[in-house]
Amino acid sequence: MSRKTRRALKVLVWGICLTPLALLLYRFWSDDLGANPISYVTNVLGDTTLRVLLASLAMTPLRLMFGISWQMSFRRLLGLFAFFYAVLHFTVWIAVDHFFAWPEMLADIRKRPYVTVGFTALVLLMPLAATSTTRMVKRLGGRNWQRLHRLVYVTGILAILHFLWLAKKGRQEPFYYAAVLALLLGVRLWDLARATVRRRRAAAERARPGRTIATAAAPVESCPES
Ligand code: HEM
Repeated sequence: MSRKTRRALKVLVWGICLTPLALLLYRFWSDDLGANPISYVTNVLGDTTLRVLLASLAMTPLRLMFGISWQMSFRRLLGLFAFFYAVLHFTVWIAVDHFFAWPEMLADIRKRPYVTVGFTALVLLMPLAATSTTRMVKRLGGRNWQRLHRLVYVTGILAILHFLWLAKKGRQEPFYYAAVLALLLGVRLWDLARATVRRRRAAAERARPGRTIATAAAPVESCPES
C-alpha cells in the first residue's frame, strides 16, 4: 500500500473515531441531549468505547481469515481511541453523574456488579495504553509485550458483561456485541489450535530417528565440493 493511501486511511479512521464525540458536542451545543442528558451522554460514550474496542480486536482476525495485513497498522490507533472513550465515559460518571462524591462512587463500584466489571475493564486498559508506544514494545520485549496485550481480550469480555448486566430485559444489542466478540475470539482460538498442531507435528518430525540421520547426512551428500 502506498504512503498516500495509508495516510488517507489514517485520516478516515481518525474521522470515524471522532464523529461520535463531534455529534455529542453538537447535540450539547444545540441543547438536544434528550430527557436524561447524563444517561444519554454516558450511554453514547459507553457504546462508542465498546465499538472501537471490538474494531481494534478485529484487526488480527481479519488478517488470519483473509490474509490481508494493511489494517494491522491501525490496531494501536483504535486501541488508544477505545481507551480515550472509556476515560470520557468514566469522567462523565465521576464528574457529572456523581459530582466527585468519592465514598458514593466507591460504594457503587463495590455494590453494583456492572460498575465493578466496567471499572475493571477500564483499569485493564490502562497498562495497555501506557505500553502502546514503540519504545515500550522494545523495553518490554516482543514476547512480554504480546502477553500483556492479550489482556485486551479480557477487557472485551468484561465490557460485554458490563453491558449485559446493565441492559434492561429484552434489549438485544448486548447479545449482538457478545456474538461479535465470540466470533473474534473463536478465530484467535482456531489460529492458536492450528499453530499448536503445526508446532507439535514439526517437533514429532524432528524427533523421528530416520529424519535425524537424514538431516545430519544432508549437508555432506549435497555439498558439491566434497
Ligand atoms: C472499557 C470500559 C467500558 C465499556 C466498554 C463500557 C461500555 C458501556 C456500554 C456499552 C454501556 C451501555 C450503553 C447503552 O445502554 O447503550 C455503558 C453504560 C454505563 N456504563 Fe460503561 N463501559 C465501560 C466502563 C465503565 C466504567 C469504568 C464505569 C463507571 C465506573 C461505567 C459506568 C456505566 C454506567 C453507569 C452506565 C449506564 C448509564 C445509564 O444507563 O445511565 N462504565 N457502558
